Amino acid sequence: MDVKLKMNQKFSDLQGGLFLEVTKADVGEGVGKLLEKGYKIMAWADPFFPDPAIPNSVKDAMIKAIEGGFPAHYSMPIGLFDLRQEIAKKVERQTRLKINPSRNVIVAPGSDSGLLYSMMPFINEGDEVLITDPSYPSNFLNPKLLGGVAVHVPLYEEDNYQIRIEEFEKRLTPKTKMVLITHPNNPTTTVFRRESIEKLCDFIVKNDLILVSDQAFEDHIYDDIEFVIPATLPGMWERTVTVCSISKGIGLSGLRIGYIYADDKIMDVLYGGAVNVLGAASTVSSIGAIAALKDEEHLKVTYERLERRRRLAYEVFSKIPGVTLSMPESGILCWLNVSKLGTAKEASAQILEDAHILVNEGTPYGFQGEGHLRIVIACFNDDNEAVDAFNRIASALTKLANQKGIN
Ligand SMILES: Cc1ncc(COP(=O)(O)O)c(C=O)c1O
Repeated sequence: MDVKLKMNQKFSDLQGGLFLEVTKADVGEGVGKLLEKGYKIMAWADPFFPDPAIPNSVKDAMIKAIEGGFPAHYSMPIGLFDLRQEIAKKVERQTRLKINPSRNVIVAPGSDSGLLYSMMPFINEGDEVLITDPSYPSNFLNPKLLGGVAVHVPLYEEDNYQIRIEEFEKRLTPKTKMVLITHPNNPTTTVFRRESIEKLCDFIVKNDLILVSDQAFEDHIYDDIEFVIPATLPGMWERTVTVCSISKGIGLSGLRIGYIYADDKIMDVLYGGAVNVLGAASTVSSIGAIAALKDEEHLKVTYERLERRRRLAYEVFSKIPGVTLSMPESGILCWLNVSKLGTAKEASAQILEDAHILVNEGTPYGFQGEGHLRIVIACFNDDNEAVDAFNRIASALTKLANQKGIN
């Protein structure tokens, strides 16, 4: 019997690295095998990986809770009330939206599951989702897993990866149901400017679409760039699902806490299916997340570390012959155009071989990702260790450039 023939084809196509080599950092045992060999991983968007990075406020709250015994028990499937309340306060500080923690917020075990869940109520077989390209790879796979179609909408390097609304208009069909943006964008770090967001929201309202706004990277935006949150624009609240995380800006990916905020009518449905789809987030992690959201000093210190890190990375990578990049606008990543040196595969293979460092090929991030690399520049606590890794990456790419006659 071929058990795969019994499967839903949306799933049977998936490859977890058991039967074929899959080099993606988030699939199967690939990363585990490299870590065993002593390689460095700069391919997981996880600040300060693999070093200790848990703030004392969070550690103390979790230890106290464990000693008190409560974390042995379930949290409410929609999330502990105190956590939803801290989330509502954060959303109000950020957006001035007064949201009700008992009606507009749900906690998810990480925003990855939150992203899939926020699409589930909307996607029928064949529905099309317009997704900016490049973008976070999971966001292209999610519509497919739900029977929908991911329609890639290109962003262009020459536009600094801002939105060209004509590219959305061209791809609109009677089956278009949803737009999905990653804002700020992963992998490019782009913060969509007011003009981009306003045009996009006009398009969404005019065509009666739903927006999922993946804001996992919203916490650290540099150079005072304005961060315009789509849910706050006219006509958008009732049609927007905003998905956030404590993994990136707050740097607590291992706690697996994400959250969604949305209008009552959407949230009623998400509350209704929470047990089946999300289960519930870990209780001890939720207690840690409450402490983290209260600790504004931690966010400030993390901002300073990451802001410094992006400058250190830019200084090294911008000197590599034949390679171009922009100063990161947000978060923990650098997006390098290595197309003069070869394909993304060739460039990442050279880095793996020479520097023993895993970085991401750009190709899983969409059609615009060929010839690009995504590097997680926030790895390691120590700036010197990070700079050493940047230099090793730069040497590997310089070797490739020299082989192509680029000096
Ligand atoms: C853009 C984006 N959204 C969401 C996620 C999911 O993060 P988590 O599940 O840790 O909240 C990631 C993780 O890399 C991401 O890059």
